[in-house]
Amino acid sequence: MDHIILNRDDLLARLDACLTDDNLDAVRSRIAELRAQVAVWKPGGIWDSATSEGGRVVFPRDVLLADLDQILATRTLQRTHYYIARLRKAAAEVRTGKINDINLNRWKEYDEIITDSLWVMERRDNSGAHKAWYWGNFIPQIPHQMMLRYTKQGDWVLDTFVGSGTTLLECLRLGRNGIGIELNADIAARTRELVATAPNPHGVVADVVEGDSRTVDYAAVLAERGIAQVQLLLMHPPYHDIIRFSEDDRDLSNAASVDAFVAQFAEIVTRVTPFLERGRYLAIVIGDKYVKGEWIPLGFYLMQAVQAQGYTLKSIIVKNFDETRAKREQKELWRYRALVGGFYIFKHEYILLFQR
Ligand SMILES: C[S@@+](CC[C@H](N)C(=O)[O-])C[C@H]1O[C@@H](n2cnc3c(N)ncnc32)[C@H](O)[C@@H]1O
Repeated sequence: MDHIILNRDDLLARLDACLTDDNLDAVRSRIAELRAQVAVWKPGGIWDSATSEGGRVVFPRDVLLADLDQILATRTLQRTHYYIARLRKAAAEVRTGKINDINLNRWKEYDEIITDSLWVMERRDNSGAHKAWYWGNFIPQIPHQMMLRYTKQGDWVLDTFVGSGTTLLECLRLGRNGIGIELNADIAARTRELVATAPNPHGVVADVVEGDSRTVDYAAVLAERGIAQVQLLLMHPPYHDIIRFSEDDRDLSNAASVDAFVAQFAEIVTRVTPFLERGRYLAIVIGDKYVKGEWIPLGFYLMQAVQAQGYTLKSIIVKNFDETRAKREQKELWRYRALVGGFYIFKHEYILLFQR
């Protein structure tokens, strides 16, 4: 994106002059002049006051031009002043909410943040330390989006099924502290090693705790790190027995039935809930399954189990599966089966979002 740097005091003074001027034509010509300067702005060229007194303010050029065009397209003085005052705020003040670092006065600049409930991701983010070595991992975009929307820098994130540590690697990248619980000792060790060697530019904590999420002493795990609660809870359980992660009886992928799976999951939610700060978010990533010609809506079962514990359901996000490695013949076989069996082939999973 093309960014321009302006002198803050100079910009504010020019906008203030517009706000105290009651002659619409005069105001418009001031804004038109500003727009022309923004359009041709170059580093080191005119109006590059980055290093001068008065501070600097950075804008994506297209966002600023669109704002100025909106002002110029307005026909009344009152409306013109309203848009100018809004632009002034964007340049002068930072306004963030309680649960993230998004500057609401500059909300148009957060292109990266998704706000729609349908996520169609073309490919996984394999950049940095993300290697996708673990069968059953989730794409890094999931913890990435959740952290941008629901945490601030320095907040704590707890992942009760951390697997290959996708959440922890994203914590390192975004400057959030993370704790991940993993039952499988081999996986826990491998993930710990991987996380320890990944870049940690913000100097945060990213720890793997080997254990069973149903019985782990959460109070002790948090106290050891000097905290009493976390600000985001991420849960990506096995989708019951679709992938068996181990032979361990305590592994949710070995639950004896769907009911047992749901009950075990609900038990973890019960245990962990007191450690999530009130008003903060719980995100569950889950897909459904098929058994003997019947669609088993694991996602909806877990959703109801969590609602029963007093959480507010904030969103159901439907996300496509990224392209699997399945061979073409296999895909065709599934298509044939779907046509014969009267069902649809799974292409989505859910991110269920709750607020405590
Ligand atoms: C779907 S995977 C999570 C993958 C992870 N999001 C990633 O990106 O690598 C589920 C994980 O939960 C672990 N698991 C299963 N039962 C568990 C339990 N009772 N306590 C802790 N971890 C458990 C499995 O070993 C597996 O690694």
